[in-house]
Amino acid sequence: TGYITYDPGFVNTGAASSAITYIDGDAGILRYRGYPIEQLAEKSNFIEVSYLLIYGELPTEAQLADFTEKIQRHTLLHEDLKAFFSGFPRDAHPMPVLSSAVSALSTFYQDSLNPFDEPNVELSTIRLLAKVPTLAAYAYKKSVGQPLLYPDNSLGLVENFLRMTFGFPAEPYEVDPAVAKALDLLFILHADHEQNCSTSTVRLVGSSEANLFASISAGINALFGPLHGGANAAVLDMLEGIRDEGGDVASFVNRVKNKEQGVKLMGFGHRVYKNYDPRAKIIKNTADEILGKIAGGDQLLDIAKKLEETALSDDYFVERKLYPNVDFYTGLIYRALGFPTKFFTVLFALGRLPGWIAHWREMINDPQTKIGRPRQIYTGHASRDYKGISER
Ligand code: CMC
Repeated sequence: TGYITYDPGFVNTGAASSAITYIDGDAGILRYRGYPIEQLAEKSNFIEVSYLLIYGELPTEAQLADFTEKIQRHTLLHEDLKAFFSGFPRDAHPMPVLSSAVSALSTFYQDSLNPFDEPNVELSTIRLLAKVPTLAAYAYKKSVGQPLLYPDNSLGLVENFLRMTFGFPAEPYEVDPAVAKALDLLFILHADHEQNCSTSTVRLVGSSEANLFASISAGINALFGPLHGGANAAVLDMLEGIRDEGGDVASFVNRVKNKEQGVKLMGFGHRVYKNYDPRAKIIKNTADEILGKIAGGDQLLDIAKKLEETALSDDYFVERKLYPNVDFYTGLIYRALGFPTKFFTVLFALGRLPGWIAHWREMINDPQTKIGRPRQIYTGHASRDYKGISER
């Protein structure tokens, strides 16, 4: 009834009220529950940030110990769920493998189906935080044809994930603390970003009162796209493409400016940030350090820096307020940590998981939530009469 506001892409539509994450796109500010991302990146860790996003406050020592222990207790997968991984082709992309596996969790935990059963929502929250890293590591192991490892619950979440991904059964695996720290930082930076495409998807699916596993699985699929989480892999493909064609950054930038079909400067631009992306700033500061430490310099990093420099002084990008976003440098870091390009977006999903959960829980408990159901501007035919097949 009344007027319908036409807002493709929801550029100006507030679809939820939320107390989780604050962004000021013009000033380049990002805060989780009021805490600046810069402080969290420097002083906190991913488990603590997950707790903060989901429960609203930084945990006390006792709360953190309890939360960590609960997660450690749920890292194992049901043995039958492991069989699931053999059903996919070996070269399957790990993102749809992960979203399918998360969707399958609601078949193993049928107590999760009622979104208003608070103790079970709490249990599903812990199960997701604990099992998604295991599922992600298994998706990797299957893609490289290696045996699966059981979680080692004496390890922290990130360390356990690294061991299950890169370790071998019956062989000791030493987690490199520099690698674990870098990954933990990247997870913090990805942990939430208010109403982005995947989080909006999680809320929309959840608004139909679908359970948490089903909603998160939908969010993972939304994240897969190259304009969203898939950008981290697309950036690396782009940098390798430039390198393989002789490293001519200027001519690539010209192709972007000429809007050659399918050629964008991946890792640049953001719907909300029109000045700079504070996450990119933090990552850039650490990229040099991490890449120096782990990989001993990187030709692709040099191309990325040159690309950034060229774009930032070019009118096309300046006029459109296009700056490097979080994904511009992350791919290089993931690569230096030993992950294949196909796996980058899975790492984004691991980081974004607590944000999705926090939003789903906020949505389900908000008395103002209604089923998400946009309207449309109809542009099709007016009424016409059916014609028999011989008359068409
Ligand atoms: N390269 C070249 N031109 C661009 C780019 C880019 N990366 N991004 C935007 N533009 C141009 C766009 O063509 C348009 O030009 P014009 O006004 O001449 O038509 C103008 O800038 C405005 O862009 P838009 O497409 O209206 O902006 P949007 O808010 O709809 O899209 C975006 C935001 C992030 C999807 C887009 O900037 C983009 O496609 N970037 C590349 C993909 C990427 O890096 N995505 C990661 C985003 S951050 C993390 C995440 O969400 O996962």
